[in-house]
Amino acid sequence: MPDRPAILFVCLGNICRSPMAEGAFRAAAAHLGLDVAADSAGTGDWHVGEPPDPRAQATARRHGVDIGSCRGRQVTRADFLQFSHVVALDTKNLAALRRLQPAASGAALSLLLDHVAGWAGQAVADPYYGGADGFDTAWADVAAGTAALARMLDGQR
Ligand code: 4NP
Repeated sequence: MPDRPAILFVCLGNICRSPMAEGAFRAAAAHLGLDVAADSAGTGDWHVGEPPDPRAQATARRHGVDIGSCRGRQVTRADFLQFSHVVALDTKNLAALRRLQPAASGAALSLLLDHVAGWAGQAVADPYYGGADGFDTAWADVAAGTAALARMLDGQR
């Protein structure tokens, strides 16, 4: 287990939702002065080594967050030993993560929007195949989820 909270955000491709969540979380944590580590990964391997989708980068930039240095990678079983919190962006990826988590892992596995009061069980919808408004909706969702997560961690220190 890490000596400070280490949060891994996981979606399917690691080029849209989870890099946006990582960026939004870094901003929320900085705002609260939290000492945390953050990263993101995908359950799929199609976009390994790629930067975030240009639409995700543009959406984050409009909110003052630069996610251009993120590179796609696939989640591994070792991640469950290195991160204290593994946070899925939707229920399908949460189920895949449950299957992957080693028995020895003490990482807390959760669904991002479960951290938002009244939003339990909700998914951040995949914007990849849709229009630009899907990225705005995804940003609003990840901003709400990561702000709530940062407040929870702030309350635990
Ligand atoms: P993400 O979106 O999971 O939010 O990164 C996707 C990106 C790529 C694909 C699926 C979802 N894909 O099938 O290539």
